[in-house]
Amino acid sequence: MHTKEKTALTAEIINEFKNIVGENYVLLDDETLDKYAHDETENLYYLPDVVIKPRTPGEVSAIMTICNAKKIPVTPRGAGTGLSGGALPHLGGVVIAMERFNSILEIDERNLQVTTEPGVITEVLQTTVKEKGLFYPPDPASRGSCFIGGNISENSGGPKAVKYGVVKDYVLNLEVVLPTGEIIWTGANVLKNSTGYNLTQLVVGSEGTLGIVTKIVLRLIPHPKHDLLMLVPFKKLEQAGEAVSAIFRAGFVPSAMELVEINALKIVGDFVDSSAVPVTDDIEAHLIIEVDGNNPDVLMGEMEAIGEMLAQYDIGEIYFADDAQQKAELWKLRRRVAEAVKLVGYTIEEDTVVPRAELPALILGVKDLGIKHNFDVVCYGHAGDGNLHIRIRKEGTPNSFGDEEMMQSLRALFELVKGLGGTISGEHGIGLIQKSYMDIVFEKKQLELMRQIKKAFDPNNILNADKIF
Ligand code: LAC
Ligand code: ZN
Repeated sequence: MHTKEKTALTAEIINEFKNIVGENYVLLDDETLDKYAHDETENLYYLPDVVIKPRTPGEVSAIMTICNAKKIPVTPRGAGTGLSGGALPHLGGVVIAMERFNSILEIDERNLQVTTEPGVITEVLQTTVKEKGLFYPPDPASRGSCFIGGNISENSGGPKAVKYGVVKDYVLNLEVVLPTGEIIWTGANVLKNSTGYNLTQLVVGSEGTLGIVTKIVLRLIPHPKHDLLMLVPFKKLEQAGEAVSAIFRAGFVPSAMELVEINALKIVGDFVDSSAVPVTDDIEAHLIIEVDGNNPDVLMGEMEAIGEMLAQYDIGEIYFADDAQQKAELWKLRRRVAEAVKLVGYTIEEDTVVPRAELPALILGVKDLGIKHNFDVVCYGHAGDGNLHIRIRKEGTPNSFGDEEMMQSLRALFELVKGLGGTISGEHGIGLIQKSYMDIVFEKKQLELMRQIKKAFDPNNILNADKIF
Protein backbone atom coordinates (compact mmCIF):
# COMPACT_ATOMS: atom_id res chain seq x y z
CA MET A 1 0.00 0.00 0.00
CA HIS A 2 2.83 2.37 0.89
CA THR A 3 6.15 2.37 -0.81
CA LYS A 4 8.88 3.35 1.55
CA GLU A 5 10.95 5.88 -0.35
CA LYS A 6 14.68 6.02 0.23
CA THR A 7 15.16 8.79 2.75
CA ALA A 8 17.90 11.36 2.60
CA LEU A 9 19.54 10.12 5.81
CA THR A 10 23.30 10.13 5.33
CA ALA A 11 26.16 9.46 7.76
CA GLU A 12 26.74 13.19 7.81
CA ILE A 13 23.20 13.92 8.95
CA ILE A 14 23.37 11.20 11.60
CA ASN A 15 26.49 12.96 12.88
CA GLU A 16 24.63 16.25 13.03
CA PHE A 17 21.93 14.56 15.14
CA LYS A 18 24.65 13.22 17.44
CA ASN A 19 26.06 16.72 17.83
CA ILE A 20 22.63 17.96 18.85
CA VAL A 21 21.54 15.33 21.42
CA GLY A 22 24.79 13.46 22.17
CA GLU A 23 25.97 10.16 20.75
CA ASN A 24 24.06 8.01 23.24
CA TYR A 25 20.70 9.34 22.13
CA VAL A 26 20.93 8.62 18.42
CA LEU A 27 20.13 4.93 18.14
CA LEU A 28 20.63 2.75 15.10
CA ASP A 29 20.93 -0.74 16.62
CA ASP A 30 18.50 -3.47 15.55
CA GLU A 31 17.02 -3.95 19.00
CA THR A 32 16.04 -0.29 19.31
CA LEU A 33 14.74 -0.02 15.76
CA ASP A 34 12.63 -3.15 16.37
CA LYS A 35 11.16 -1.70 19.57
CA TYR A 36 10.05 1.48 17.81
CA ALA A 37 8.67 -0.33 14.75
CA HIS A 38 5.36 -1.11 16.44
CA ASP A 39 2.90 0.28 18.96
CA GLU A 40 -0.34 -1.34 20.19
CA THR A 41 -2.00 -1.05 16.77
CA GLU A 42 -3.05 -4.40 15.32
CA ASN A 43 0.10 -6.35 14.39
CA LEU A 44 1.62 -3.61 12.23
CA TYR A 45 5.39 -3.23 11.98
CA TYR A 46 7.46 -0.56 10.17
CA LEU A 47 11.15 -0.10 10.91
CA PRO A 48 12.44 3.46 11.34
CA ASP A 49 15.94 4.33 10.08
CA VAL A 50 16.98 5.99 13.32
CA VAL A 51 15.54 6.70 16.77
CA ILE A 52 16.49 10.00 18.43
CA LYS A 53 15.82 10.79 22.08
CA PRO A 54 16.12 14.54 22.64
CA ARG A 55 15.83 16.20 26.06
CA THR A 56 15.00 19.84 25.35
CA PRO A 57 12.70 21.82 23.06
CA GLY A 58 15.83 23.37 21.53
CA GLU A 59 17.10 19.91 20.60
CA VAL A 60 13.75 18.94 19.05
CA SER A 61 13.82 22.21 17.13
CA ALA A 62 17.34 21.59 15.81
CA ILE A 63 16.38 18.06 14.67
CA MET A 64 13.23 19.34 12.97
CA THR A 65 15.15 22.10 11.20
CA ILE A 66 17.47 19.53 9.62
CA CYS A 67 14.67 17.12 8.71
CA ASN A 68 12.65 19.93 7.20
CA ALA A 69 15.58 21.12 5.08
CA LYS A 70 16.35 17.58 3.89
CA LYS A 71 12.71 16.43 3.69
CA ILE A 72 13.27 13.50 6.04
CA PRO A 73 10.08 11.88 7.43
CA VAL A 74 9.69 12.29 11.21
CA THR A 75 7.38 10.30 13.46
CA PRO A 76 6.94 11.60 17.02
CA ARG A 77 6.37 8.96 19.68
CA GLY A 78 5.20 8.87 23.27
CA ALA A 79 4.89 5.56 25.11
CA GLY A 80 3.70 3.59 22.09
CA THR A 81 0.33 2.60 23.56
CA GLY A 82 -1.67 4.02 20.65
CA LEU A 83 -4.30 1.98 18.82
CA SER A 84 -4.59 3.81 15.51
CA GLY A 85 -0.96 3.77 14.35
CA GLY A 86 -0.13 7.41 15.10
CA ALA A 87 3.37 6.47 16.30
CA LEU A 88 4.15 4.00 13.50
CA PRO A 89 7.06 5.13 11.28
CA HIS A 90 5.48 3.72 8.14
CA LEU A 91 7.65 5.92 5.89
CA GLY A 92 10.88 5.05 7.72
CA GLY A 93 13.06 8.04 8.58
CA VAL A 94 13.41 9.47 12.08
CA VAL A 95 11.46 8.52 15.19
CA ILE A 96 11.64 11.27 17.81
CA ALA A 97 11.03 9.46 21.10
CA MET A 98 9.86 11.84 23.84
CA GLU A 99 10.57 9.63 26.87
CA ARG A 100 13.30 11.89 28.29
CA PHE A 101 10.80 14.76 28.60
CA ASN A 102 9.69 13.21 31.88
CA SER A 103 9.44 16.04 34.41
CA ILE A 104 6.43 17.62 36.02
CA LEU A 105 7.66 21.21 35.96
CA GLU A 106 5.27 23.11 38.24
CA ILE A 107 2.09 22.58 40.21
CA ASP A 108 0.44 25.98 40.60
CA GLU A 109 -1.79 25.48 43.65
CA ARG A 110 -2.96 29.11 43.58
CA ASN A 111 -4.47 28.71 40.14
CA LEU A 112 -5.09 24.94 40.10
CA GLN A 113 -2.82 24.29 37.13
CA VAL A 114 0.06 21.98 36.32
CA THR A 115 2.82 22.46 33.78
CA THR A 116 4.34 19.22 32.62
CA GLU A 117 6.56 17.73 29.98
CA PRO A 118 4.94 15.28 27.55
CA GLY A 119 6.88 12.14 28.53
CA VAL A 120 5.32 11.92 32.01
CA ILE A 121 3.20 8.80 32.54
CA THR A 122 -0.42 9.89 32.91
CA GLU A 123 -0.96 8.01 36.17
CA VAL A 124 2.20 9.54 37.65
CA LEU A 125 0.84 12.98 36.84
CA GLN A 126 -2.50 12.05 38.42
CA THR A 127 -1.03 10.69 41.64
CA THR A 128 1.40 13.62 41.95
CA VAL A 129 -1.36 16.24 41.76
CA LYS A 130 -3.61 14.10 43.97
CA GLU A 131 -1.07 14.44 46.78
CA LYS A 132 -2.04 18.11 46.75
CA GLY A 133 -5.77 17.31 46.72
CA LEU A 134 -6.03 18.00 42.99
CA PHE A 135 -7.59 16.00 40.18
CA TYR A 136 -6.65 15.55 36.55
CA PRO A 137 -9.53 13.31 35.41
CA PRO A 138 -8.78 11.95 31.88
CA ASP A 139 -7.73 8.36 32.52
CA PRO A 140 -7.19 6.17 29.44
CA ALA A 141 -7.15 2.43 30.18
CA SER A 142 -3.38 2.51 29.63
CA ARG A 143 -2.82 5.32 32.13
CA GLY A 144 -0.19 3.27 33.97
CA SER A 145 2.05 3.31 30.89
CA CYS A 146 0.85 5.95 28.39
CA PHE A 147 2.35 9.45 28.27
CA ILE A 148 0.42 12.64 28.80
CA GLY A 149 1.90 13.90 25.49
CA GLY A 150 0.35 10.98 23.62
CA ASN A 151 -2.97 11.71 25.35
CA ILE A 152 -2.78 15.29 24.03
CA SER A 153 -2.06 14.03 20.52
CA GLU A 154 -5.06 11.70 20.50
CA ASN A 155 -7.39 13.79 22.67
CA SER A 156 -7.80 10.70 24.82
CA GLY A 157 -10.74 9.99 27.07
CA GLY A 158 -11.19 7.02 29.40
CA PRO A 159 -13.92 6.07 31.89
CA LYS A 160 -14.11 9.41 33.72
CA ALA A 161 -14.81 11.33 30.51
CA VAL A 162 -18.52 10.72 30.95
CA LYS A 163 -18.64 13.16 33.88
CA TYR A 164 -15.42 15.14 33.57
CA GLY A 165 -14.75 15.42 29.85
CA VAL A 166 -11.73 14.43 27.79
CA VAL A 167 -8.19 15.76 27.48
CA LYS A 168 -9.19 18.81 25.42
CA ASP A 169 -11.29 20.04 28.34
CA TYR A 170 -8.16 20.36 30.51
CA VAL A 171 -5.51 21.73 28.12
CA LEU A 172 -4.93 25.46 28.51
CA ASN A 173 -1.68 26.04 26.67
CA LEU A 174 1.00 24.11 24.81
CA GLU A 175 4.61 24.69 23.85
CA VAL A 176 5.02 23.18 20.39
CA VAL A 177 7.98 22.69 18.07
CA LEU A 178 6.65 23.18 14.56
CA PRO A 179 7.78 20.97 11.66
CA THR A 180 9.85 23.92 10.43
CA GLY A 181 11.74 24.03 13.74
CA GLU A 182 10.15 27.19 15.21
CA ILE A 183 8.96 26.98 18.82
CA ILE A 184 5.60 28.54 19.77
CA TRP A 185 3.17 28.71 22.67
CA THR A 186 -0.37 28.13 21.43
CA GLY A 187 -2.40 30.19 23.93
CA ALA A 188 -2.31 31.48 27.50
CA ASN A 189 -2.60 29.92 30.96
CA VAL A 190 -6.16 31.13 31.41
CA LEU A 191 -9.52 29.43 31.86
CA LYS A 192 -11.30 31.50 29.24
CA ASN A 193 -9.80 32.58 25.97
CA SER A 194 -11.49 34.16 22.94
CA THR A 195 -8.29 35.60 21.55
CA GLY A 196 -7.90 34.62 17.92
CA TYR A 197 -8.10 31.14 16.48
CA ASN A 198 -7.72 28.42 19.08
CA LEU A 199 -4.32 26.98 18.19
CA THR A 200 -4.26 25.01 21.44
CA GLN A 201 -7.33 22.99 20.51
CA LEU A 202 -6.08 22.58 16.96
CA VAL A 203 -2.98 20.84 18.24
CA VAL A 204 -4.94 18.71 20.75
CA GLY A 205 -6.02 15.60 18.84
CA SER A 206 -3.87 16.41 15.80
CA GLU A 207 -2.10 13.06 16.23
CA GLY A 208 1.43 14.41 15.97
CA THR A 209 0.87 15.86 12.50
CA LEU A 210 1.06 19.59 13.27
CA GLY A 211 3.92 19.85 15.74
CA ILE A 212 5.74 18.18 18.60
CA VAL A 213 4.41 19.17 22.01
CA THR A 214 7.21 19.93 24.49
CA LYS A 215 5.32 21.55 27.40
CA ILE A 216 1.73 21.23 28.53
CA VAL A 217 -0.32 23.44 30.85
CA LEU A 218 -3.39 21.68 32.25
CA ARG A 219 -6.16 22.93 34.46
CA LEU A 220 -6.95 20.84 37.54
CA ILE A 221 -9.98 20.52 39.78
CA PRO A 222 -10.32 19.61 43.47
CA HIS A 223 -10.24 15.84 43.91
CA PRO A 224 -13.64 14.38 44.90
CA LYS A 225 -13.35 12.79 48.33
CA HIS A 226 -15.44 9.66 47.81
CA ASP A 227 -16.54 7.25 45.11
CA LEU A 228 -18.73 4.17 44.96
CA LEU A 229 -18.60 1.43 42.38
CA MET A 230 -21.08 -1.24 41.37
CA LEU A 231 -21.32 -3.91 38.74
CA VAL A 232 -24.67 -4.75 37.19
CA PRO A 233 -25.06 -8.01 35.25
CA PHE A 234 -27.51 -7.93 32.33
CA LYS A 235 -29.11 -10.98 30.75
CA LYS A 236 -29.40 -9.15 27.42
CA LEU A 237 -26.56 -7.12 25.96
CA GLU A 238 -28.98 -4.85 24.17
CA GLN A 239 -30.79 -4.04 27.44
CA ALA A 240 -27.49 -3.00 29.00
CA GLY A 241 -27.20 -0.54 26.12
CA GLU A 242 -30.74 0.72 26.71
CA ALA A 243 -30.19 1.16 30.44
CA VAL A 244 -27.26 3.50 29.83
CA SER A 245 -29.25 6.33 28.31
CA ALA A 246 -32.16 5.70 30.71
CA ILE A 247 -29.84 6.38 33.67
CA PHE A 248 -28.84 9.77 32.28
CA ARG A 249 -32.41 10.64 31.32
CA ALA A 250 -33.41 9.94 34.93
CA GLY A 251 -31.01 12.71 36.00
CA PHE A 252 -28.05 10.75 37.34
CA VAL A 253 -24.50 11.87 36.59
CA PRO A 254 -22.24 8.84 37.06
CA SER A 255 -18.47 9.40 37.05
CA ALA A 256 -18.07 6.21 35.01
CA MET A 257 -20.49 4.11 33.01
CA GLU A 258 -18.67 1.29 31.29
CA LEU A 259 -19.95 -1.73 29.41
CA VAL A 260 -18.13 -5.05 29.19
CA GLU A 261 -19.54 -7.90 27.17
CA ILE A 262 -19.36 -11.28 28.88
CA ASN A 263 -16.79 -12.80 26.51
CA ALA A 264 -14.42 -9.92 27.18
CA LEU A 265 -14.89 -10.37 30.92
CA LYS A 266 -14.16 -14.11 30.70
CA ILE A 267 -11.00 -13.49 28.69
CA VAL A 268 -9.67 -10.73 30.94
CA GLY A 269 -10.58 -12.72 34.08
CA ASP A 270 -8.39 -15.59 32.84
CA PHE A 271 -5.67 -13.17 31.78
CA VAL A 272 -5.27 -11.45 35.15
CA ASP A 273 -6.25 -14.61 37.03
CA SER A 274 -9.15 -12.99 38.82
CA SER A 275 -12.48 -14.45 39.80
CA ALA A 276 -13.71 -11.21 41.36
CA VAL A 277 -16.68 -11.28 39.02
CA PRO A 278 -18.58 -14.56 38.85
CA VAL A 279 -19.30 -15.38 35.21
CA THR A 280 -22.57 -17.23 34.73
CA ASP A 281 -24.15 -18.52 31.53
CA ASP A 282 -27.28 -16.40 31.76
CA ILE A 283 -25.40 -13.07 31.66
CA GLU A 284 -24.50 -11.32 28.39
CA ALA A 285 -22.90 -8.08 29.62
CA HIS A 286 -22.10 -5.97 32.67
CA LEU A 287 -22.36 -2.28 33.32
CA ILE A 288 -19.73 -0.84 35.64
CA ILE A 289 -21.23 2.24 37.29
CA GLU A 290 -19.34 4.68 39.50
CA VAL A 291 -20.51 7.81 41.27
CA ASP A 292 -18.22 10.29 43.02
CA GLY A 293 -18.49 13.41 45.15
CA ASN A 294 -17.86 14.70 48.65
CA ASN A 295 -20.86 13.38 50.57
CA PRO A 296 -20.87 9.57 51.01
CA ASP A 297 -24.54 9.48 52.09
CA VAL A 298 -25.63 11.28 48.93
CA LEU A 299 -23.56 8.86 46.84
CA MET A 300 -25.06 5.83 48.58
CA GLY A 301 -28.54 7.23 47.92
CA GLU A 302 -27.68 7.69 44.24
CA MET A 303 -26.35 4.15 43.88
CA GLU A 304 -29.47 2.72 45.49
CA ALA A 305 -31.73 4.81 43.27
CA ILE A 306 -29.83 3.69 40.15
CA GLY A 307 -30.10 0.08 41.33
CA GLU A 308 -33.86 0.41 41.85
CA MET A 309 -34.27 1.96 38.42
CA LEU A 310 -32.38 -0.90 36.81
CA ALA A 311 -34.75 -3.45 38.33
CA GLN A 312 -37.05 -2.84 35.32
CA TYR A 313 -34.47 -4.70 33.18
CA ASP A 314 -33.64 -8.37 33.15
CA ILE A 315 -30.63 -8.20 35.47
CA GLY A 316 -28.76 -10.50 37.83
CA GLU A 317 -27.57 -9.69 41.33
CA ILE A 318 -25.83 -6.32 41.63
CA TYR A 319 -22.32 -6.47 43.05
CA PHE A 320 -21.04 -3.53 45.15
CA ALA A 321 -17.29 -3.04 45.48
CA ASP A 322 -16.99 -2.53 49.23
CA ASP A 323 -13.46 -1.32 49.71
CA ALA A 324 -10.50 0.14 47.85
CA GLN A 325 -9.15 -3.31 47.06
CA GLN A 326 -12.37 -4.55 45.47
CA LYS A 327 -12.66 -1.35 43.46
CA ALA A 328 -9.09 -1.68 42.26
CA GLU A 329 -9.73 -5.30 41.27
CA LEU A 330 -12.78 -4.34 39.22
CA TRP A 331 -10.98 -1.47 37.52
CA LYS A 332 -8.02 -3.74 36.80
CA LEU A 333 -10.35 -6.12 34.98
CA ARG A 334 -11.85 -3.29 32.97
CA ARG A 335 -8.57 -1.59 32.12
CA ARG A 336 -6.88 -4.73 30.86
CA VAL A 337 -9.62 -5.86 28.46
CA ALA A 338 -7.91 -4.53 25.31
CA GLU A 339 -4.63 -6.21 26.14
CA ALA A 340 -6.27 -9.51 27.12
CA VAL A 341 -8.53 -9.90 24.09
CA LYS A 342 -5.69 -8.98 21.72
CA LEU A 343 -3.67 -11.89 23.07
CA VAL A 344 -6.42 -14.35 22.16
CA GLY A 345 -6.66 -13.08 18.61
CA TYR A 346 -8.93 -10.04 18.72
CA THR A 347 -6.22 -7.90 17.12
CA ILE A 348 -8.40 -5.40 15.26
CA GLU A 349 -9.90 -2.62 17.37
CA GLU A 350 -12.40 0.03 16.32
CA ASP A 351 -13.36 3.01 18.46
CA THR A 352 -16.85 3.85 17.26
CA VAL A 353 -18.96 6.55 18.88
CA VAL A 354 -22.68 7.26 18.48
CA PRO A 355 -25.18 9.49 20.28
CA ARG A 356 -25.72 7.67 23.57
CA ALA A 357 -29.29 6.52 22.94
CA GLU A 358 -28.23 4.82 19.67
CA LEU A 359 -25.97 2.41 21.54
CA PRO A 360 -28.40 -0.55 21.43
CA ALA A 361 -28.80 -0.13 17.65
CA LEU A 362 -25.01 -0.03 17.26
CA ILE A 363 -24.55 -3.17 19.37
CA LEU A 364 -27.18 -5.11 17.39
CA GLY A 365 -25.77 -3.83 14.09
CA VAL A 366 -22.24 -4.86 15.02
CA LYS A 367 -23.34 -8.37 15.97
CA ASP A 368 -25.17 -8.62 12.64
CA LEU A 369 -22.11 -7.48 10.72
CA GLY A 370 -20.00 -10.08 12.48
CA ILE A 371 -22.34 -12.83 11.25
CA LYS A 372 -22.60 -11.42 7.71
CA HIS A 373 -18.88 -10.75 7.33
CA ASN A 374 -17.79 -13.83 9.19
CA PHE A 375 -15.77 -12.43 12.09
CA ASP A 376 -15.89 -12.81 15.87
CA VAL A 377 -16.61 -9.62 17.71
CA VAL A 378 -16.49 -8.53 21.31
CA CYS A 379 -17.74 -5.15 22.55
CA TYR A 380 -16.73 -3.09 25.55
CA GLY A 381 -16.09 0.52 26.37
CA HIS A 382 -17.36 3.85 27.51
CA ALA A 383 -21.08 3.26 27.14
CA GLY A 384 -22.00 6.48 28.94
CA ASP A 385 -20.32 8.41 26.12
CA GLY A 386 -21.80 6.21 23.39
CA ASN A 387 -18.18 5.20 22.74
CA LEU A 388 -18.04 1.49 21.96
CA HIS A 389 -14.76 -0.33 21.42
CA ILE A 390 -15.29 -3.14 18.97
CA ARG A 391 -12.68 -5.86 18.92
CA ILE A 392 -12.59 -8.14 15.89
CA ARG A 393 -11.02 -11.56 15.40
CA LYS A 394 -10.83 -13.24 12.04
CA GLU A 395 -8.71 -16.28 11.35
CA GLY A 396 -5.79 -15.38 9.07
CA THR A 397 -6.43 -11.61 9.27
CA PRO A 398 -4.31 -10.09 12.04
CA ASN A 399 -4.50 -6.60 10.51
CA SER A 400 -7.31 -4.62 8.97
CA PHE A 401 -4.85 -2.21 7.39
CA GLY A 402 -4.09 -3.42 3.88
CA ASP A 403 -6.59 -6.31 3.96
CA GLU A 404 -9.19 -5.66 1.24
CA GLU A 405 -11.88 -7.91 2.69
CA MET A 406 -11.59 -6.63 6.25
CA MET A 407 -11.49 -3.06 5.00
CA GLN A 408 -14.82 -3.65 3.27
CA SER A 409 -16.25 -5.02 6.51
CA LEU A 410 -15.02 -1.95 8.39
CA ARG A 411 -16.47 0.31 5.72
CA ALA A 412 -19.85 -1.34 6.39
CA LEU A 413 -19.32 -0.82 10.13
CA PHE A 414 -18.54 2.89 9.76
CA GLU A 415 -21.46 3.36 7.40
CA LEU A 416 -23.68 1.88 10.11
CA VAL A 417 -22.12 4.24 12.66
CA LYS A 418 -22.56 7.25 10.37
CA GLY A 419 -26.21 6.23 9.78
CA LEU A 420 -26.75 6.33 13.55
CA GLY A 421 -25.36 9.87 13.69
CA GLY A 422 -21.97 8.77 14.99
CA THR A 423 -18.39 8.89 13.82
CA ILE A 424 -15.26 6.79 13.41
CA SER A 425 -13.23 7.47 16.55
CA GLY A 426 -14.16 8.70 20.01
CA GLU A 427 -10.71 8.66 21.61
CA HIS A 428 -8.13 6.57 19.74
CA GLY A 429 -7.69 8.81 16.70
CA ILE A 430 -7.57 8.03 12.99
CA GLY A 431 -3.81 7.62 12.55
CA LEU A 432 -2.85 5.23 9.81
CA ILE A 433 -5.43 2.52 9.97
CA GLN A 434 -8.69 4.47 9.79
CA LYS A 435 -7.78 7.20 7.34
CA SER A 436 -9.29 5.43 4.34
CA TYR A 437 -12.76 5.71 5.89
CA MET A 438 -12.69 9.49 6.41
CA ASP A 439 -14.80 9.99 3.25
CA ILE A 440 -17.68 8.27 5.06
CA VAL A 441 -17.94 11.02 7.67
CA PHE A 442 -16.52 14.05 5.82
CA GLU A 443 -17.21 15.75 2.49
CA LYS A 444 -14.33 16.66 0.16
CA LYS A 445 -14.41 20.29 1.32
CA GLN A 446 -13.86 19.39 4.97
CA LEU A 447 -10.92 17.15 4.11
CA GLU A 448 -9.49 19.87 1.88
CA LEU A 449 -9.63 22.35 4.78
CA MET A 450 -7.80 19.85 6.99
CA ARG A 451 -5.13 19.38 4.33
CA GLN A 452 -4.67 23.14 4.07
CA ILE A 453 -4.21 23.39 7.84
CA LYS A 454 -1.63 20.62 7.67
CA LYS A 455 0.18 22.48 4.90
CA ALA A 456 0.20 25.75 6.86
CA PHE A 457 1.98 24.00 9.73
CA ASP A 458 4.09 21.58 7.71
CA PRO A 459 4.81 22.92 4.20
CA ASN A 460 7.21 20.08 3.36
CA ASN A 461 4.89 17.39 4.75
CA ILE A 462 7.57 15.76 6.89
CA LEU A 463 5.85 15.35 10.27
CA ASN A 464 3.78 12.18 10.61
CA ALA A 465 2.92 12.54 6.94
CA ASP A 466 0.20 10.37 5.44
CA LYS A 467 -1.70 10.03 8.73
CA ILE A 468 -5.38 10.99 9.37
CA PHE A 469 -6.21 11.77 5.71
C1 LAC B 1 -10.02 1.06 26.66
C2 LAC B 1 -9.01 1.58 25.69
C3 LAC B 1 -8.63 0.58 24.69
O1 LAC B 1 -11.00 1.74 26.91
O2 LAC B 1 -9.43 2.76 25.09
O3 LAC B 1 -9.81 -0.03 27.20
ZN1 ZN C 1 -11.31 3.37 25.76
